[in-house]
Amino acid sequence: MYNLQSSVKEHDEARQGEALMLESTSTKNNGRKLYIESYGCAMNFSDSEIVASIMTDMGFETTADYKEADVIFINTCSIRENAEQRVRNRLREFGAVKSRNPGMVVGVLGCMAERLKSKFLEEEKLVDVVVGPDAYRDLPNLIDKVDDGSRAVNVLLSREETYADINPVRLNSNGITAFISIMRGCDNMCSFCVVPFTRGRERSRDAHSIVKEAQELFDLGYREVTLLGQNVDSYKWTSEDGTESVNFAGLLEQVALVSPDLRIRFSTSHPKDITDEVLYTMAQHENICKYIHLPIQSGNSRVLEIMNRTYDREWYTERINSIRRIIPECAISTDVIAGFCTETEEEHKDTLSMMDYVKYDFAYMFMYSERPGTLAAKRFTDDIPDDVKKRRLNEIVRKQQQHSHERLLQQVGKVQKVLIEGFSKKSELDYAGRSDQNATVVFPADKNYKPGQYVNVFVERCTTATLIGKIVE
Ligand code: SAH
Ligand code: SF4
Ligand code: F3S
Repeated sequence: MYNLQSSVKEHDEARQGEALMLESTSTKNNGRKLYIESYGCAMNFSDSEIVASIMTDMGFETTADYKEADVIFINTCSIRENAEQRVRNRLREFGAVKSRNPGMVVGVLGCMAERLKSKFLEEEKLVDVVVGPDAYRDLPNLIDKVDDGSRAVNVLLSREETYADINPVRLNSNGITAFISIMRGCDNMCSFCVVPFTRGRERSRDAHSIVKEAQELFDLGYREVTLLGQNVDSYKWTSEDGTESVNFAGLLEQVALVSPDLRIRFSTSHPKDITDEVLYTMAQHENICKYIHLPIQSGNSRVLEIMNRTYDREWYTERINSIRRIIPECAISTDVIAGFCTETEEEHKDTLSMMDYVKYDFAYMFMYSERPGTLAAKRFTDDIPDDVKKRRLNEIVRKQQQHSHERLLQQVGKVQKVLIEGFSKKSELDYAGRSDQNATVVFPADKNYKPGQYVNVFVERCTTATLIGKIVE
């Protein structure tokens, strides 16, 4: 299967093992090296770029080899139990190196830091510093404390912090695609979800700083930005004097106007909040990619109700119908949870039938994993046996594989506009990029074109996950 290193999408927690090793250079070197590894969603990867910026300002240089680092940061995810387990296993490996180099500082950042707070220091003896997602500006002070021989914790959540003024150090970048965080936190309280507890209240970033970041990226040669938020449709920024107010449709439009050659993607859309205004804005601007990630979680209205998703099957169906009406060519992907508390066999079948109705282009699919402190953990019993969860998940995955393949086959014989992102992972003879609809496209590299350029590719065939073709005029 072809894969693009740069195409880290929001739900990369599905591939949590895929950590990002980062390297950058600093101007005022303090002779110390930072290694940072990220897990979880794109927002965490984007936060690591903020952290790298703050640490670079302190004089750190980054390294891709944790064995030579003076400071190791692990930016963590709490979304499912196995995500946390993976981090703990990784800490064991860092521990082995630290035992040979006791001066090494190990820091835990992100959602697990926020969830476990100082308990982390009790549970994991090798950890020196624990920093929550809203406390990264305090890193210089926290590192000082550790240098003075203490262990340090800052897990304060904020109602205002958006790091709007911090210029992210683009890490592991292909120089063509980048993430832009447009908001932080989440106010939705889906009953299964730990994010509102680890990321705090929802807040939107200053629209001007977002457009400025997009413009700067474009000027540097970037050709695609992905606007990130847990629920981008509830983006709302009002200027301090109250004269200017921007919603998500307005922001999309402003970023689209940076240049017709800058592609815009965004994630995640929430079924309860995505408006026709957003859909019309997408339809109006050729450079806003025709792709929507619209997590359904379950196709059954009772289950959706106890998940506290605040929409039902009919509402979701209506949103899908609107997308198909306003943007007929739009690709749609989703997230599904199998075996949520009390889910019956019939209710599980409703999820399968909903998948048949939408025929998603792509999906991230999970077994329900109870998270301490969430509404579901307090109110319901995690009562679906593991083997039943697994079987239901398998049925969902098998169905999705068929649908993904059908969707790709629909593209065979057609011409796709592709932004070249680099060589394909398999061969330097091939380029890889993504279509407007977010499908990976691989085609013979032609030296008349280079990464960062758009090409028209005639799709000749497809594998289960990739379109294969050749450049046409
Ligand atoms: N803000 C996004 C989701 C972020 S979390 C949204 O509202 O859609 C990414 C996905 O992880 C969720 O969509 C959900 O499918 C899954 N997820 C979240 N909590 C989970 C849990 N406790 N068990 C299993 N999957 C979970
Ligand atoms: Fe979690 Fe729901 Fe917020 Fe998404 S919208 S981050 S699933 S609480
Ligand atoms: Fe993202 Fe995982 Fe936190 S999905 S918001 S890193 S819990």
